[in-house]
Amino acid sequence: MRVLNPWTLLAAASLAMAGHLPPRNYATHDYYAIHLSSSISPTELAAHLGLTYEGKLGELADHHVFKTPKHDNDIVNDAVQELKRRRRKREVGLEPHPLDSVQFNQKQKIKPRHWKRSVIPEVSRAGPPASDAVTTQREIARALEIKDPIFEEQWHIFNVKAPGNDLNVTDVWMQGITGKNVTACIVDDGLDMDSEDLKDNFFAEGSYDFNDHVDLPKPRLSDDRHGTRCAGEVSAGRNNACGVGVAYDSRISGVRILSGDITDMDESLAINYELQKNDIYSCSWGPPDDGKTMQAPGLLIEKAMLTAIQKGRDGKGSIYVFAAGNGAASDDNCNFDGYTNSIYSITVGAIDKDNLHPYYSEACSAQLVVTYSSGSNDAIHTTDVGANKCTSQHGGTSAAGPIAVGTYALVLQVRPELTWRDLQWLTVMNAVPFDQPSDWNKTTLGRMYSHQFGYGKLDAYAIVEAAKTWKLVKPQAWFYSPWMHVKKPIPQGEQGLASVFEVTEKMLKDANFERVEHITLTMNVAHTRRGDLSVELISPDGYTSHLSTARRDDEFPSGYIDWTFMSVAHWGEKGVGKWTVIVKDTKENEHSGTFTDWKLRLWGECIDPSTQGLRPMPTEHDDDDHDAITTAPAHTTTISVPTGAATVTANPSDHPDRPVNQKPTNTNNPGPSSTAAFGTPVSATSTPSATSSPDNFLPSPFPTFGVSKRTQIWIYGSIGLILVFCASLATYLYLARRKRLRSSRDNYEFEILDDADNDEEGARTGMLNGTTGGGKGRRAKRGGELYDAFAGESDEDLLSDSDGENEPYRDEKEYDEKTGMVGGGSSDGSDAGSGSGASGSSRGRK
Ligand SMILES: *[C@@H]1O[C@H](CO)[C@@H](O)[C@H](O)[C@H]1NC(C)=O
Ligand SMILES: *[C@@H]1O[C@H](CO)[C@@H](O)[C@H](O)[C@H]1NC(C)=O
Ligand SMILES: *[C@@H]1O[C@H](CO)[C@@H](O)[C@H](O)[C@H]1NC(C)=O
Repeated sequence: MRVLNPWTLLAAASLAMAGHLPPRNYATHDYYAIHLSSSISPTELAAHLGLTYEGKLGELADHHVFKTPKHDNDIVNDAVQELKRRRRKREVGLEPHPLDSVQFNQKQKIKPRHWKRSVIPEVSRAGPPASDAVTTQREIARALEIKDPIFEEQWHIFNVKAPGNDLNVTDVWMQGITGKNVTACIVDDGLDMDSEDLKDNFFAEGSYDFNDHVDLPKPRLSDDRHGTRCAGEVSAGRNNACGVGVAYDSRISGVRILSGDITDMDESLAINYELQKNDIYSCSWGPPDDGKTMQAPGLLIEKAMLTAIQKGRDGKGSIYVFAAGNGAASDDNCNFDGYTNSIYSITVGAIDKDNLHPYYSEACSAQLVVTYSSGSNDAIHTTDVGANKCTSQHGGTSAAGPIAVGTYALVLQVRPELTWRDLQWLTVMNAVPFDQPSDWNKTTLGRMYSHQFGYGKLDAYAIVEAAKTWKLVKPQAWFYSPWMHVKKPIPQGEQGLASVFEVTEKMLKDANFERVEHITLTMNVAHTRRGDLSVELISPDGYTSHLSTARRDDEFPSGYIDWTFMSVAHWGEKGVGKWTVIVKDTKENEHSGTFTDWKLRLWGECIDPSTQGLRPMPTEHDDDDHDAITTAPAHTTTISVPTGAATVTANPSDHPDRPVNQKPTNTNNPGPSSTAAFGTPVSATSTPSATSSPDNFLPSPFPTFGVSKRTQIWIYGSIGLILVFCASLATYLYLARRKRLRSSRDNYEFEILDDADNDEEGARTGMLNGTTGGGKGRRAKRGGELYDAFAGESDEDLLSDSDGENEPYRDEKEYDEKTGMVGGGSSDGSDAGSGSGASGSSRGRK
């Protein structure tokens, strides 16, 4: 197809707009994010649909933003459906149509707010400092010319009360390594660029407000203190205000997303903001840490993250640091959060000043490292909102993440050429395990790993020293197993149900795969009470990852739906041998379930860099598995019997025999069924029981003929079958004329056409659903479920965050007193009291 010049001109025009979109106004307009193939220009599409073209969707290749005055319906999806319908009825032919170039579209919806991951600490600093330590601290301050009034309180930098329990950073500074020429971006509720402590390091070019759609992310709500506090930990200057940041000569920018309405589109733009200028994105937030939420970022956000990994920092990859989450006291686990369990994020948990596990910090196999935060009667002392305001109350995993961010800024000053994976490797190899009871166990690399503490605590000196001579890793390769179909009931109690997949040397060689870094495991488990489930993965080298743990409050009635767990505990393994997944139904009660299927993905270093490409962008169909990278042959599944677990034979297959719309949990989600109605009959014949689910057979526009549902199903099924056959045949003829883009599909002929048809249905279904998951019905489902979880909790949480309105005054007072007697550890009872009072009440529930 010829690419016309107007398109090029247009692209140039939008580049001329510095790639920045006009501000969104969700009160008056609807916005659509559309992935277009290049056969049509965005303006042509806009003209065709009566939309206004706004510009490119940030850094996402071929994604565009359109707007229209507010409407109830989904204009784009309705048009796509209409075209489909008319083609089925042969009212229009199969000749190319402008809408054919729509690869993905999503009408933007306001999402539930993320939670800030701070907790209000109880603080009553007791106990005298060790006097030698105080002397050393003063010498260091003198040598570095640090005159910041609260420097001596910043125990996470130099701990005088529990010597050694700190970041071990001062000797790094002594070498002049202070984060120069590195930019960290605080993605949060704002950043007080007028603060004396931040204004010199503030980097306006890397900053934006995605809540109010203005250039500067200034804190505007009484509650907007979190981002400024995080920024202070990273980049508070060496000056006369408060303390210093870990990388006190770094640049600091802010992107504001937590203080108002946000959509998937805006969140994508936010986490990609100025990705050639912002090196590290600091994210101390996520889905609710309530022990019952399971939420992954929507597809646009996933694509944005991968875009930053592939293009950011000149192709070395943007660094994402996420706070692990504060839900440990409600059994929450960071593997239920799709941001923290992404392979592209570094997940940072907390330890307190006594190296103890604080009650809030979540464990999970995706956690890489921990560093200091609140607990044991102290918290993080840092900058606050205001010209010269400090806080001694910053806490939660929210406060741990930015300390890691500052540390990575030091590392990047020394070695700016490190890739995102090098930083993860350096963390694995140089985090310091410490003497606290946990599930520490030695990994293949000889490193100790604990689900609670990751590879240990960050030691700035150790990681910077190691970085100086670190040899860059080769590009990333991946190996995907086929879907393993288990379909067996899970016994209750300790026993568990195991399924095994054996990876051979040849498979990895064919995938150009040398050794494991991350593993991800995507699975479906039907269960009437999700919180009862737990999942373990035993690697060929015998290490057990606890991918999922039981959660007492998680009542979700449909188990795991295409959920992806992640583990960093197999880092350095070869990957060859038997991988055993064990699903347990830990509670003996009336709730039971079935282990449906699973798919293992290994991610790691490639063998031959010269042949290794970049991972394709995710699509809504990734779990459908049509474009699996490895064309895995039909493997024989080998069964072993791990102690206490029943094992079953699973059937590996590249083509799950259960189509997209047949997932177990569509029942309370009638939206997609209107599109599913035509698409599903194919599957209805293969699995009639699933389609005869009474709740969502047909939407109202279809006549019922006054007969029973069963008969309707039969009638519509037959009509549908005929239509689908015609459509398939037509599609087949149409496709036959086109270049075959995906060679891996070529072997399948007619079978794949069915799949393709389902694909399309799936895609449309996702669109109909609107935003959240951005994908098929299943994906959107996760969003719906979250919404519910949120409805119950969020208001209270948001309120509680703001009801600490008097907090800054408290801190200010405290520090006014203190600045008068710097270094005196005195703290009146009032700060502990108010800390657990006002805001503490809500956070205290954790
Ligand atoms: C801390 O830094 C010093 C150098 O200042 C180094 O010798 C030591 O190994 C580091 N780690 C610990 C745990 O002290
Ligand atoms: C700062 O970083 C940029 C790229 O991030 C690089 O081009 C430049 O040379 C660096 N400047 C110094 C002084 O290191
Ligand atoms: C520790 O890991 C080894 C293999 O690395 C394994 O054999 C052993 O069972 C593990 N121990 C525990 C307690 O998980």
